[in-house]
Amino acid sequence: MREILVTSALPYANGYIHLGHLVEYIQTDIWVRAMKAQGHQVTYVCADDAHGTAIMLKAEANGVTPEEQIASVKASHEADFSKFLINFDNYHSTHSEENKEFSELIYRRLSSAGHISTKDVEQLFDPEKQLFLADRFVKGTCPECDSPDQYGDNCEVCGTTYNATELKNPQSTLSGSTPVLKTSKHYFFNLPEFEQFLKDWTRSDNRLQTSVANKLQEWFEAGLATWDISRDAPYFGFQIPDTPSDEPDKYFYVWLDAPVGYMASFKNLCDKRAGTEQALDFDRYWAQENEHKTEVYHFIGKDIVYFHALFWPAMLAGSEYRTPTGVFAHGFLMVNGEKMSKSRGTFIKAETYAEHLHPEYLRYYFASKLSDKVEDINLDLEDFMQKVNSDLVGKVVNIASRSAGFLVKKYDGMLSEVCAEPELLEDITKTGDEIAAAYENREFSRAMRLIMQCADKANEYIDEKKPWSLAKQEGTEQEVQDVCSVAINIFRQLMVYLAPVLPELTNNAKAFLNIDSLDFASRNQWLLGHKINKFKPLMQRIEEKDIEAMVEDSKASLAQVDAPAPTAITNSKPAAKNAAPEANADAEQTDYIGIDDFAKVEMKVAHVLACNHVEGADKLLQFTLDVGEDKPRNVFSGIRKFYEPEQLVNKKVVCVTNLAPRKMKFGISEGMVLSTGEPKTGLTVVTLPDTCVVGDVLA
Ligand code: 2FM
Ligand code: ZN
Repeated sequence: MREILVTSALPYANGYIHLGHLVEYIQTDIWVRAMKAQGHQVTYVCADDAHGTAIMLKAEANGVTPEEQIASVKASHEADFSKFLINFDNYHSTHSEENKEFSELIYRRLSSAGHISTKDVEQLFDPEKQLFLADRFVKGTCPECDSPDQYGDNCEVCGTTYNATELKNPQSTLSGSTPVLKTSKHYFFNLPEFEQFLKDWTRSDNRLQTSVANKLQEWFEAGLATWDISRDAPYFGFQIPDTPSDEPDKYFYVWLDAPVGYMASFKNLCDKRAGTEQALDFDRYWAQENEHKTEVYHFIGKDIVYFHALFWPAMLAGSEYRTPTGVFAHGFLMVNGEKMSKSRGTFIKAETYAEHLHPEYLRYYFASKLSDKVEDINLDLEDFMQKVNSDLVGKVVNIASRSAGFLVKKYDGMLSEVCAEPELLEDITKTGDEIAAAYENREFSRAMRLIMQCADKANEYIDEKKPWSLAKQEGTEQEVQDVCSVAINIFRQLMVYLAPVLPELTNNAKAFLNIDSLDFASRNQWLLGHKINKFKPLMQRIEEKDIEAMVEDSKASLAQVDAPAPTAITNSKPAAKNAAPEANADAEQTDYIGIDDFAKVEMKVAHVLACNHVEGADKLLQFTLDVGEDKPRNVFSGIRKFYEPEQLVNKKVVCVTNLAPRKMKFGISEGMVLSTGEPKTGLTVVTLPDTCVVGDVLA
């Protein structure tokens, strides 16, 4: 028996759980259940990630204390997780005594080993709010192309990246005041001192997926930098111990104590279970010398690899703790082939989904898509409905529903004493080994394919034997019982195989089958001379109207002004920032606009009359656009890297026509041409079919 500790990334305590988050929790939960079913001792812990500026400001905006804010979000997270059958052994918070102790201890050990240094950092400071401004809280005019209203890290018009201090006319988005430059002492973790350790760690013992290890190699080549782990007061978090009294109070940056939350949640569980049969020994899992006795795995999204595969193992190694056995990254969730979108109703909260559809549908669909690769997965709503209806209802549940009736009515629920098709059953028992291996290797889509192949075999067998015809003939009683008993035995095997994915359905099936266990080994004992109970429908088909209602509800719920800002383990973080943890790390908050604000934006069909390079601006193209007015408009767009002007001439594009004219170095821009993608990696201008009428408003 292996002893395994598993974690999923800790969701921020300032927003609700959405389907993007659920990819990870469902993936981890399936893995944990599958490993438990194989007889291992697995412990699954998680917690809310409760610290940081975003949470502090959210509490302020809601008129509550940070403690009240995080308590109510934690309750809502736990309710959502339980609806989706995520079976944590413990769910804690990073704002906890255990976490404070471990964070301080790790910091002190790193500090006394010489891995912490200090440096003066000059940053923009909001004199009204009296706080230092992270990049996303500053807006100003781009130093490169003069576009106004750009964030403190990069310009969305021309794509230039810069420091917030370089913005012209900077403004705090929190108070509207003009920030001032202020210097303060920051604490740094000396990551470069761990370069050799990390290079070895990354490449040994299959800890990381190949694509992740390759990404790390790129980061090594680019050079590791020291990591700023402190933030000045006011900040919601833990104070850094032993800092000089003549400085403002220093706090651990949220990402310092977040992964420590894995240990803290586990410690909290150890304390809860002390003296019981399920007691756990903290040191057995975390002491350096026990590294090879127990296993620790972190499931994470691909956007937080830097924190988990560089900072975290370095912090652990530098403070005499064991490092993770493996870090498993997954991709983002797309819905209908695109990024989740609030306006299309595909940005779906866990709660909204659960009001309309059974969570196990989603667990199955995600399982059928997930592999061990760091690939994005697509929830195509039409395919989702088809797949669940055809695989689970049409194939799997159907096996029981078409055979149980005969057995209960005619044989008092008794299965035959002897198996009439031992080869078929053996074949399906044997496939179980491959299915178990697929689960363990996180190749869930392969596991689902193998399971459905077994279901196909059962249905082919029933179709061939036709118990419904046999039952009408004389002298076939034994044969009918035998055929239905084989079918029920295969159904039992399938329930064992699907139990990690569909815990509720399979638990109900357990009652129907009158059995105690769905552990993997239990499939070896066939049900012979065994009595089953009356069959009750185990799953309903998905109706199109339920999906439509969920999408409509999602649109409506996101228009509510009081909706909490969603956090993103996955989807709402800007993709281009994936490799820039410092910039990325605080990007926890997505601001909503109400429907009224959205209605203010006027977008019209525009015909590109001319498109040209702009002398002296290597990022811009200049458009002359007919938007159905008396005279054409002049619009600059930061897409030169991605297009030759001739490619766009004569095209129909979308122009935002009521954007205030912007004075730029090269002239006045009288609108905006819509593109998709990221300014750094690639933009595609949205083009419309020729049949669109110039000047028509997009609605
Ligand atoms: O990206 C996020 O949503 C973070 N709250 C994840 C933290 S995981 C761990 F390190 F705590
Ligand atoms: Zn710019």
